[in-house]
Amino acid sequence: MNEKMKGGKNDMGKVAIYPGSFDPLTYGHIDIVERALEIFDKVILAIAHDAEKKSLFTVEERVEMAKMIFKDSPNLIVDSFKGLLVTYVEKTNAKVLLRGLRATSDFEYEFHMASMNRSLSTHLDTLFMMTSKDYFFVSSRTIKEVAKLGGTVEGLVPDLVARRLKEKFKLPVAKKRLIGWDD
Ligand code: PNS
Repeated sequence: MNEKMKGGKNDMGKVAIYPGSFDPLTYGHIDIVERALEIFDKVILAIAHDAEKKSLFTVEERVEMAKMIFKDSPNLIVDSFKGLLVTYVEKTNAKVLLRGLRATSDFEYEFHMASMNRSLSTHLDTLFMMTSKDYFFVSSRTIKEVAKLGGTVEGLVPDLVARRLKEKFKLPVAKKRLIGWDD
């Protein structure tokens, strides 16, 4: 975490932390980030190290992909954290956690998590943004399942993620043509 990420009143303006596994990042997540950047001065995408669940991509791979995907968004900062989320958030001085909500099925899990985080850190609030209608059925879990079985995830994740999924599952990746069409 660098000094700029501390998020105090005088350095970064209004900061929101968007935590998650992002294993992998989908257009659903990206949609939340883009809308959050309209509201907050900075958004920190905080990628969790494997805690409860074993991830497909290592935290380094997830951070690297996110940095490439958001390379043109200077107000989006990619970081990772280990251990309790509230401990990480306390180091940044941010007051807001951001989470996407797709359907009522997400609600119970999110409600428990937000309540636990609030009980651990009383000055921390979780704000929820409804996922856009185009992505309400998209989750990292289903993306991995579809990709593993050879289905297309085009339009649901960035091309970079789709390529990395194919590489992970050892499926053929279309080679970019390096020579002209007339050759
Ligand atoms: O994208 P996910 O997997 O739903 O994100 C869940 C995540 C990583 C935000 C959550 O599991 C988390 O905050 N993990 C860190 C450990 C922690 O603080 N647990 C207590 C919160 S209930």
